[in-house]
Amino acid sequence: MSHTLTLTINGTVQEVTLDDPRVTLLDLLRERLYLTGTKKGCDRGQCGACTVLANGRRINACLALALSHDGAEITTIEGLARGDTLHPVQAAFIAHDGMQCGYCTPGQIMSAVGLIAEAQAGADPERIREGMSGNICRCAAYAGITKAVLAATE
Ligand code: FES
Repeated sequence: MSHTLTLTINGTVQEVTLDDPRVTLLDLLRERLYLTGTKKGCDRGQCGACTVLANGRRINACLALALSHDGAEITTIEGLARGDTLHPVQAAFIAHDGMQCGYCTPGQIMSAVGLIAEAQAGADPERIREGMSGNICRCAAYAGITKAVLAATE
């Protein structure tokens, strides 16, 4: 039995029909909608590479069933910039070397955007590190990531 769901993705309403109710939001984004900026790392909720915003809150898209987000507003890394103008968090990651190989970067940036919106970290490096702890960077670019989030918070 197929299921049709409606999502607003990066501001555009999209209707998607799924034959398999077990499809994750991550696979829907990457394999059906070709929004490949959202990365698949562990596919089990441990690395944060798949972080997107669902109704403004950070989630691991690999752990989310697409069906359970029917009607949701989803923001991916592709939805942050406005034309040629980067989102302030994107600009801060560049300015402060918040990356090395770049694979985790979309998830890091989406997590930072969510964290700043939650207004829980403030401009406190320790709280930023804690708030970003669900996003793993295998290159260990954490110093630059923290500096970037701090700069974007101020
Ligand atoms: Fe989702 Fe690692 S791919 S947390």
